[in-house]
Amino acid sequence: MSESQIRFEDGAAYERMMGVWSRLVGNVFLDWLAPEQNQNWIDVGCGNGAFTELLVQRCQPAEILGIDPSEGQLSFARSRVAGIARFEQGDAMALPYADNSLDVAVMALVIFFVPDPARGVAEMKRVVKPGGSISAYVWDVLEPGGFPMAALQEELRNIGITPMLPPRAEVSRLGALHTLWVDAGLTDVASREIVVTRTFDDFADFWVSAEIAIGMGQGTRDMSVETRANLKDRLKDRLPVDAGGRISFASRANAVTGRVPVGSSIVPSEAI
Ligand SMILES: C[S@@+](CC[C@H](N)C(=O)[O-])C[C@H]1O[C@@H](n2cnc3c(N)ncnc32)[C@H](O)[C@@H]1O
Repeated sequence: MSESQIRFEDGAAYERMMGVWSRLVGNVFLDWLAPEQNQNWIDVGCGNGAFTELLVQRCQPAEILGIDPSEGQLSFARSRVAGIARFEQGDAMALPYADNSLDVAVMALVIFFVPDPARGVAEMKRVVKPGGSISAYVWDVLEPGGFPMAALQEELRNIGITPMLPPRAEVSRLGALHTLWVDAGLTDVASREIVVTRTFDDFADFWVSAEIAIGMGQGTRDMSVETRANLKDRLKDRLPVDAGGRISFASRANAVTGRVPVGSSIVPSEAI
């Protein structure tokens, strides 16, 4: 599966489809991490700022640097989070920051898009000071009940279309995520599941999200009008509707956290 299969180009559309979900998980994630105030953060793959906004609201950071390769996502992030947050184009594989310069690094729904996840974790470890924290959450995309678009994916498969999956989906499993953190040489590694429920006003509300997801996938956005109508009918038949017409369902993310070992300070390259 090609890495360009899922495109992030429209921050407003992303908000409707996934930003709401990310914040649902992000709230539980921050309860779990219980970070200190006045820290210098980096939000790697900040996207449209869905999680960055939560950090500003909940963690009183001294500073937040958000990086993401997508200018479409970043411009939405800049419009929603003012003040101490700064957003720049960048890649998790080569963070544009100095060694040992930050207190906390996070990746919200990103690690499975990073071409070499181990390098992405190593980069976070490089820029965070000894004793600082490195954490992530990611949808459990390969297991039933994990991904919010699992029903859409299943119905796509049922009509012979390969659904969109992040290129490094295998790191999303809880054990794989935990091992990635341990193998990076982080200490105090802990991991857990986070289950959240989102309620859509009605099927039309859900379908807006589904159409955005369809439009983000290389293998789905060009499907015919008939195929799209068939898919819509299938989803309408299978999703649970309450007495008020609302659709609610749960999804599950896996989360991990660890610390940069004290005494592991990286010697800045110019000092060697
Ligand atoms: C599912 S979105 C998550 C956005 C945001 N963190 C959130 O919680 O909603 C994944 C983001 O990862 C970004 N991304 C993809 N490859 C990346 C890479 N190599 N380095 C950094 N970010 C990347 C995408 O542009 C996209 O904005």
